[in-house]
Amino acid sequence: MSALNIEAKDIPTPPLEGLLHEQALAAYENSFRARAGIWAELLQESSARLASGRPSLHWLDTGTSGWGERRAKPSSRGLTYTDVNRLKQSGRMPAIATWKNFAPRGSIREPYRERMPICESYTVLNRDDVWAENVETLYEEAKARQWNATRDIPWGELEPLPEDLEKATCQLCTFLTEVEFVAGDFPAKWMYRIPQDFLEVKSFLSTQIMDEARHQEVFRKRALAGGGLLHSAPGFEWALAAILDAPTHTMGTFLLNLLGEGLILSVFRSGEMIAKTHVDKEIFRRCLQDEARHVSYGVMQFKNYLDNHPDRDAALEEMHRFADVGELVVLSAFVEAGFIEPVAILLGGGLNKIDQGMDGLAHMWTMFVEEYLQRCARAGFDRRARCKIPARAVWAA
Ligand SMILES: [Fe+2]
Ligand SMILES: [Fe+2]
Repeated sequence: MSALNIEAKDIPTPPLEGLLHEQALAAYENSFRARAGIWAELLQESSARLASGRPSLHWLDTGTSGWGERRAKPSSRGLTYTDVNRLKQSGRMPAIATWKNFAPRGSIREPYRERMPICESYTVLNRDDVWAENVETLYEEAKARQWNATRDIPWGELEPLPEDLEKATCQLCTFLTEVEFVAGDFPAKWMYRIPQDFLEVKSFLSTQIMDEARHQEVFRKRALAGGGLLHSAPGFEWALAAILDAPTHTMGTFLLNLLGEGLILSVFRSGEMIAKTHVDKEIFRRCLQDEARHVSYGVMQFKNYLDNHPDRDAALEEMHRFADVGELVVLSAFVEAGFIEPVAILLGGGLNKIDQGMDGLAHMWTMFVEEYLQRCARAGFDRRARCKIPARAVWAA
């Protein structure tokens, strides 16, 4: 047997010439190449040891990790993150993450720190930008309540509606389809930036991404089962872009989870009145449960951010200024014809009862603003005096 002979220059990098992503590949190669010598060294050492016939067995040494002192015990719900996090061996979630690689929290990793890669994608290093007290509970709930849009909706029982109600349902579902992927793209955009030490948050965000994929799926299928997709909503597209491009996770969470999904929650809560078939009622009922979790995470994440900020007053003022603009997001939904008109027709019970429906929608507006202000208050953010959304609908007498 003979050891491999590897140097930094032997670490393969993709050929650059003639490829479409030359610049990105060049940057990747440069950052990689700078530390590739360490990788080569590690491969060299390991292969030399194997070639000499000596096993390492270093992993049998438990050091001061406390391995074996206590073992994780399930509680009545099974073995949750909360149960395993009682153990010292699970490691504590740090306030500031310093591990920008993939070593699991609680593993023996300190001896290897200098010889591990530094992953530049991990940029959210402050726990309080993502943590929420209820994240572990919400993760458990999300797993227990997953459902399948293919199988769990009684599609075979969907009866055709009169054309005005069918079109209104299809238009509302088109609007919701447009919204749902952004609701998934936002946590996805932040998830890969969150280091592994915040594993509970990453786990919860992955359920939110799955939930939103399912919502997009169920509304798309509902529209196609009822005649087809109708019009996209240009005014609201701007609100969606504002959510996705929000500069910090907490700001985006405020926009998406507190405001945007708070509104969707109000709509789904009225599902009994909006839905015209038992199939539609079932869709709204199931989505409502999922959205309630996302809103709940948003409120508690925002609260945690404010509660732990070293300069709470400055943080509050910054968020107030952000909310001044952010509230336009919801306002733009409340004036989007492609959203409010189908809802009004469904609420009223027909195209000829759209006025009655608009009255119902005006009530929903007032209710939503009040619920939003209460959510802010729960997070410790008194928005009542500064709220930019009028307390009454713009069309209300
Ligand atoms: Fe959703
Ligand atoms: Fe959601």
